[in-house]
Amino acid sequence: MSIQNKNKLVTISTLGKLKKAKEKFSCLTAYESTLAQRISEAGVEVILVGDSLGMVIQGHDSTLPVTMDQLIYHLDCVARGNVNSHIMADMPFMSYSTDELALENATKLMQNGAHSVKIEGGSWICKMTSTLAERGIPVCAHMGLTPQSINRIGGYFVQGRDTKKRQKLIEEAKSLESAGAAMLLLECVPNDLSKEITSLLKIPVIGIGAGPETDGQIMVIHDLLGISCLEKPPKFVKDFLKGSSSIETALGKYVKSVKSKKFPSRSHTFF
Ligand code: KIV
Repeated sequence: MSIQNKNKLVTISTLGKLKKAKEKFSCLTAYESTLAQRISEAGVEVILVGDSLGMVIQGHDSTLPVTMDQLIYHLDCVARGNVNSHIMADMPFMSYSTDELALENATKLMQNGAHSVKIEGGSWICKMTSTLAERGIPVCAHMGLTPQSINRIGGYFVQGRDTKKRQKLIEEAKSLESAGAAMLLLECVPNDLSKEITSLLKIPVIGIGAGPETDGQIMVIHDLLGISCLEKPPKFVKDFLKGSSSIETALGKYVKSVKSKKFPSRSHTFF
């Protein structure tokens, strides 16, 4: 178990300062203790205990089967390995279907080592975002491609390409910030849209498949290690283990590439 130096813990305010200073920050998923420790020691600012665990750990074809108990189990493992990264925990499918349930389940995550929670949705999560924020629970709103809605969306593809949908995403991002969201995560949106949203908002914006202009970048750890659970990894992922002599080296390369704005490159970006 690693000894956490609370003085150095990355907080929401650390991320806000990085945004203000125009310094990029890195985020990665983790689901267990040893990798969480290595990730944190590599200087990754945010560790997400993502419901992607349903796919990369459990072998399901979506994130929908993940339960609160399973999320808490993995969060607990990650929290024990973490050194000083900010731990964000995903709210699983249907764990926030009402505001009351959201409060109950977000409380459980915070009591099991999370420093913030991530919720997928647009304007419909504004009220629960305020409710949680007012009670001391920082919320990261996940917009764009929201994998828990895959059955409604109809596939894993780029969101916000047409003018109407683009404008809706911009308005919803602004509403979520006004509602008290601490962070925003944009998944699979064109570069100019994520650029506009990142510059409009004061809160840190994290991107995956959203181009290089967001304040932070996130990847699923399995993708970084070149062991994607998909037959063909998406365009926005990069195998950092390729050409590296160890996992630690690959993690260091990722952190450096994000900070120096080398990752994501044009080849990882949707236009
Ligand atoms: O669950 C997850 O890993 C995520 C990332 C893809 C952002 O939500």
